[in-house]
Amino acid sequence: MAASLSKSAIVRQDVLDLRHFAASSLRDLLTEETELWQRRLRWDYRASAQLLLDYLDSRILPGFVATEDGRPAGYVFCVYEQHKAVIGDVFATAQARERASRIESRLLEHTLELLQSTPGTARVETQLLLHPKGQFREVFTQNGFDFYPRVFMERQLHRERPSAMIALPPSLHLRSWRDSDFAAAGRVIALAYQGHLDSVINDQYRTTAGSLRFLHNIVRFPGCGQFDPATSLVLAHRDSEELAGIVLCSRVNIDTGHVTQLCIEPALRHSGLGRLLLTQCMQALAAQGLNYISLTVTEGNHEALFLYRRMGFKSRHTFDAMVWQRN
Ligand SMILES: CC(C)(COP(=O)(O)OP(=O)(O)OC[C@H]1O[C@@H](n2cnc3c(N)ncnc32)[C@H](O)[C@@H]1OP(=O)(O)O)[C@@H](O)C(=O)NCCC(=O)NCCS
Repeated sequence: MAASLSKSAIVRQDVLDLRHFAASSLRDLLTEETELWQRRLRWDYRASAQLLLDYLDSRILPGFVATEDGRPAGYVFCVYEQHKAVIGDVFATAQARERASRIESRLLEHTLELLQSTPGTARVETQLLLHPKGQFREVFTQNGFDFYPRVFMERQLHRERPSAMIALPPSLHLRSWRDSDFAAAGRVIALAYQGHLDSVINDQYRTTAGSLRFLHNIVRFPGCGQFDPATSLVLAHRDSEELAGIVLCSRVNIDTGHVTQLCIEPALRHSGLGRLLLTQCMQALAAQGLNYISLTVTEGNHEALFLYRRMGFKSRHTFDAMVWQRN
């Protein structure tokens, strides 16, 4: 089924429903995209690409493919989560380099038209991590989205040395992540992000149930790297099952760890606990022989950005988070 058809003198271009494509027909595109993830973000995208290929073969993923003379030149996909849709990724081949950005914009236009005309979809979120800040401003602005610039930061690990531990309050203890921490981690995330800018960007953070869905995606799926329980740490209250803070870390490359979550409950902030968790995580990564740590942070999240800069993280890339809410 053709969603649209436009002809140029040189190349015949179509935009087609993603569900008409078998994984094998998009494999070359994903291989090329995997190389870009490596170059731009030091990120091994192969597991994520494989997950996407598995979904493609089940023909259930909403999205579009742009073809040129019948050959796939780009794709976009999204996932539905209750009332909201998340645009997962958009990518067009460098063989159409001068046209790639236009192809990606056109794919996004089709996606937004589809999502905004779907009555059950009250909200659309997207963080197009691979694409530089501002690249799709026009498309998303025209469709009523708000923008939240974000920074991809990284730091080298090779000079990590054990640092002096701050004295932990006696009511807390620090330990590695356990599978049984799920429920308490969901609670501390929801508490930490109450009224926070990041819960404007990602509405999962607004409730414990949503935070559990976030955790589930991070811990169980390779979409954001391979979760590493050995370098993921929690600060636990001794007298209860509750957590005061967590740092979660995934492996995104053979030599790179990525912090997918860092939070401290509001009542315990500004006493060095955030720095402590991140320092311990970096030491654990260095002890495993890893060379780099990366993370993402919203530009407007000044406390976190300041902390990361003070700890030696540098910006490698900037991208946009974008949100649309139906009135
Ligand atoms: C970011 C967060 C984890 C920091 O936790 P924390 O325990 O307060 O952090 P720390 O006390 O270790 O350190 C905070 C650092 O920021 C500084 N800082 C504290 N408040 C600050 C402020 N209002 N403005 C600027 N800097 C501030 C401190 O001086 C400290 O720096 P230093 O260690 O070099 O002296 C915590 O604010 C949080 O949970 N925020 C909500 C979730 C979040 O934003 N997570 C990060 C997502 S990327």
